Amino acid sequence: MKDYVHGYSKRESERLADQADTLSGILHYDTQFPAGSKVLEAGCGVGAQTVFLAKNSPDAQITSIDISEDSLQHAQRLIKKEGIINVEFLQADIMDLPFAEESFDHIFICFFWSTLKTR
Ligand SMILES: C[S@@+](CC[C@H](N)C(=O)[O-])C[C@H]1O[C@@H](n2cnc3c(N)ncnc32)[C@H](O)[C@@H]1O
Repeated sequence: MKDYVHGYSKRESERLADQADTLSGILHYDTQFPAGSKVLEAGCGVGAQTVFLAKNSPDAQITSIDISEDSLQHAQRLIKKEGIINVEFLQADIMDLPFAEESFDHIFICFFWSTLKTR
């Protein structure tokens, strides 16, 4: 994971959380997915945006993927702490997603940056 430009430090996790909280009014004020819809969150990181997504669309089913297992574990802990139940996490590379075509109705992607050498 060393090629990822921002890295995975504790400070970076805090930065992502601060960023999500600060910008939530801009990024999420009109983001509500319909009940029953399937949403892919690509590059969810530590779940900082996932919390807002899930709370704004409690009846949508959200699948949040990231390439970092550590970040996913952090995100899972956060979601559990918040009592959110409409999110599932999966480790996956956005360049090689393990889903069939048309698996999702919506995609949410935010502050995604990859310098991983995946090809
Ligand atoms: C800047 S963080 C943003 C996280 C989250 N979207 C947010 O706004 O808080 C970018 C995330 O993309 C993930 N990422 C980078 N390359 C990826 C790839 N090829 N496939 C999946 N996730 C990737 C990183 O592990 C990191 O968690």
